[in-house]
Amino acid sequence: MRVLVINGPNLKRLDLREKSVYGNFDYKTLENFVTGAAKELGIESEIRQTDDEAELIGWLHEAADKKLPVIINPAAFTHYSYAIRDAVLMLKAPVIEVHISNPLSREEFRHTSVVSGVVNGTISGFGLNSYRLALSAMKNLLVDLAK
Ligand code: DQA
Repeated sequence: MRVLVINGPNLKRLDLREKSVYGNFDYKTLENFVTGAAKELGIESEIRQTDDEAELIGWLHEAADKKLPVIINPAAFTHYSYAIRDAVLMLKAPVIEVHISNPLSREEFRHTSVVSGVVNGTISGFGLNSYRLALSAMKNLLVDLAK
């Protein structure tokens, strides 16, 4: 069971962002947390981050071609990137949207996700645990699909 975990813009600089919103940890901690949580669930994970929309879309194309399941935190792209939505639509395996914060409790522009309508489900607001919950949900989806 292999899952690609994709993080969008500004997440590499988590330690420099609003601590009251994102908590007090850096991107390396997020990476280690995701890798560890995946291992506990028996999932092989590959975690990537980019600030570049084109690169992120390229990774989604790669996941589509390889039929890889995807967990994606599109970060600010969530709120306006129809290009990412279109690329997500081409995925062949399950895809879960995650957010560290709860965008619905923040500024109004964050209340829209152009991605939510084309994913299997969205998990928001649990800090790093959003990723653990997404990995666990992904495992259930993949187990069900294999039946
Ligand atoms: C985020 C929420 C987005 O609104 C924001 O632009 C981010 C991070 C989150 O994980 O909470 O960069 O996706």
